[in-house]
Amino acid sequence: MYLITLDSETDFDGWRKIARALALHHVAPADVTWSMQGPAKDEVPPGLCEAPSLPPIETDNTFSVPANFIELARVAVLHRNSERFALLYRLLWRLRSDHDLLETRTDPDVAIATAMAGSVHRDVQRMRDVVRFREIGREHKAHYAAWFVPEHHIVEFAAPFFARRYADMPWSILTPDICAHWDGHAISFTPGISQTEMPAPNRLEETWRRHFQPDRPIAPEAPKRRRRNLSEASILEPLLSDAERWTGGRINPPREPAMTRKSATDDLKTLREDAAHCRACHLYKDATQTVFGEGPKSANIMLVGEQPGDKEDLAGHPFVGPAGQMLDRALEEAGVDRKKVYVTNAVKHFKFVPRGKVRLHQKPNTPEIRACRQWYERELAAIQPDLVVAMGATAAQSVFGKITSIGKNRGRLIDLPDGRKALVTVHPSYLLRLPDPESKVLEYQRFVEDLKIAAGLQKKSARAA
Ligand code: URA
Repeated sequence: MYLITLDSETDFDGWRKIARALALHHVAPADVTWSMQGPAKDEVPPGLCEAPSLPPIETDNTFSVPANFIELARVAVLHRNSERFALLYRLLWRLRSDHDLLETRTDPDVAIATAMAGSVHRDVQRMRDVVRFREIGREHKAHYAAWFVPEHHIVEFAAPFFARRYADMPWSILTPDICAHWDGHAISFTPGISQTEMPAPNRLEETWRRHFQPDRPIAPEAPKRRRRNLSEASILEPLLSDAERWTGGRINPPREPAMTRKSATDDLKTLREDAAHCRACHLYKDATQTVFGEGPKSANIMLVGEQPGDKEDLAGHPFVGPAGQMLDRALEEAGVDRKKVYVTNAVKHFKFVPRGKVRLHQKPNTPEIRACRQWYERELAAIQPDLVVAMGATAAQSVFGKITSIGKNRGRLIDLPDGRKALVTVHPSYLLRLPDPESKVLEYQRFVEDLKIAAGLQKKSARAA
């Protein structure tokens, strides 16, 4: 009998190496006990011996398993079921004589391993969907933290996704198993935090402080040139401005957004990067990310919506959810080529209230629309469209700089003070909300008619070009 002690709950490489050696030595699955935190040496039950006592393997004595087994095993080992290593060794053992075993979906071992991998994948997806970072440690170096309770051992597996998505902000994901940290360069892990200490959202900072010493404060007086030379300058700038504000240092006048305004001709890439750090209102705190406008710089039509919805917030792109599908359909019917249009929103962060698993959309208020207007203005200056289409009341308020009735103004070209034209129409999600099918059809047709005005302009400019 062999007692195998793996280094950790997620030690796939260790399992793989030992499983291969055991199989090559014809050690049957029934003769192996797998453990993650093995008993101390003097507690090893009688009759069990440790793997190193296996004789050396002859090099030409080998076997191969299908690549999809390795993929399956790599994910299934993250399942919390304590039998997983034994199950996977049993599969490995059987695969040596039945190379196509994984094709037999009804085989109990195959079915259980596949179900385990599915459950792990769902848990990873859940983590991606529900992890929400909160800003903490503002009086020192800003940091973002989230609390999450995984069903399986997925934190190390899932962390690179968060590092990619939130590459330019330092974060920690605290969990009962293990905590993951990203400093802008590398991911590191520390032991988990006991469930009994589970921080309420407003106690997250306290828990984080108790476990992790925050970095020393950024000296606001550090020379500007040195700051710029830091490779993470794009991260530091907003943090420095925060540090200055919180230490009562010099900021004159207090900077409302994270960045100072740039010239009217900011390029879109720079704008997008700047907007990613926007702290001009509180909405960034709960949203996943800034959803900036998209489309060609040469667009002569700019479509403005209200704010990203749930799907857009997760995807990072405007109008990709149900309202976006409705918009696409109407644009196509009206003869407007979406690929040639710049699509954006008056407010660039998703505003919502959580209701169970659902995030319910909330209409942005006037201070939020005002705080975000700088981005619309800068997009306008970068794109220089001939026509701005305001879809819905929030967009109209941003485009005209004041509350503007949709009913009284829709369907006709209106002169803007800067010489551009504006067109007001309804928001596509208004059409989705209409209860009766008849008004849905009628209102949709009116929406398409409004968009045809934009189509006419797009065609005219195409002819002129
Ligand atoms: N509604 C909007 O106003 N904008 C989007 O991007 C999606 C839904």
